[in-house]
Amino acid sequence: MMSPVVKGDVDLLARFEGGLDLAHPERSEIPARVLGHGEITTVFEIFEDGRETASDPGLAYKRMPMFHSEAEAESYEALYRDHVSVLRDEAGTDVAESDLVWLGLEGPPSGASRSENPIVLYIVQEKFPAQTIGHQQIRNAGPAEARVLLRTVVEEAWKVFAFNRRNRGRLEVGLDAQISNWAVVGYAENGVPRLRYIDTSTPLLRRGGVERLDPELFLRSAPSFLVWIIRRFMLADVLERYYDVRRVMIDLAANLFKEQRPDLVPVALEVINESFLSRKADLETVGTPEATEPCEPVSLAEVRSYYREDARIWRVYLAFRKTDRLLHRVLRRRYPYLLPERIAR
Ligand SMILES: Nc1ncnc2c1ncn2[C@@H]1O[C@H](COP(=O)(O)OP(=O)(O)OP(=O)(O)O)[C@@H](O)[C@H]1O
Ligand SMILES: [Mg+2]
Repeated sequence: MMSPVVKGDVDLLARFEGGLDLAHPERSEIPARVLGHGEITTVFEIFEDGRETASDPGLAYKRMPMFHSEAEAESYEALYRDHVSVLRDEAGTDVAESDLVWLGLEGPPSGASRSENPIVLYIVQEKFPAQTIGHQQIRNAGPAEARVLLRTVVEEAWKVFAFNRRNRGRLEVGLDAQISNWAVVGYAENGVPRLRYIDTSTPLLRRGGVERLDPELFLRSAPSFLVWIIRRFMLADVLERYYDVRRVMIDLAANLFKEQRPDLVPVALEVINESFLSRKADLETVGTPEATEPCEPVSLAEVRSYYREDARIWRVYLAFRKTDRLLHRVLRRRYPYLLPERIAR
């Protein structure tokens, strides 16, 4: 078990999963509301008897239906724990409390097939009020307020990447620093927000320079007719992106276009480029030539072209997944994922 603070209710989740209406979660036997969508996970809050099931402050449930065997489940769980504890105890990141609940691990009842009783993982996490999540925080924020938040995100990211640099080749963690992956859990006396990291479902971690997360898991939500293309042309890039501080920062800035705050992109770039300058001195004190390589400043043009490319890829990808869902329907096979409707960009 991950943590004594958050405890997943297996019985509740088994009943929830059993009555889940993937097309209309709010009409499920135990009604649910989608808190957020990722490329792989769907984040729910669950209501029972018209009320929230869990006592204050409530819980968020991240559903991951892509595991094929008990062995996969076991190694994912071990990696998940390892990732959270490295982030928390070694890199010094405040990570949301969570617990893992597995359904269907015991295997199908005799006579039933695996497809009737698939393995589904729920990451049960402390839930944060919607307005505390980073992208909501910046929604109506002025530039000064947004700058403080962005600077805090950039500093949090640097904690992780400084850890990675110190441990290069031994132990590194991947970080997706996008604004929607942080909850503001309070403020320091000087008014600086305190951030907690919530996007724990993709535990990217390298030991001895070798990625421990099985990327095949994340290919399973991809349409079967695309898997080979993604594996061949995109996978390595996606996996490596989150270990590269400069690209993580570009991604953080570019994501502000998606969050409908293009005006904050230059603000983010100022903060990011300032951080590069101030780290340059730090980096020079570290011995290896690679570690002393400073980050080149990021330009607005670079962020724009990154965003255009990224948005295009995900738009096309989502369209393909919808085609795949349609194919499943035609073939009368259950499509196990919940897809976002059009994403505003
Ligand atoms: N603990 C939580 N409390 C409240 N809202 C949450 C919580 N966790 C996630 N959310 C909402 O759901 C969104 C997506 O969650 P999260 O970042 O964990 O997954 P993701 O981006 O889908 O991850 P991935 O792309 O790795 O599958 C968040 O941006 C947030 O709006
Ligand atoms: Mg996220």
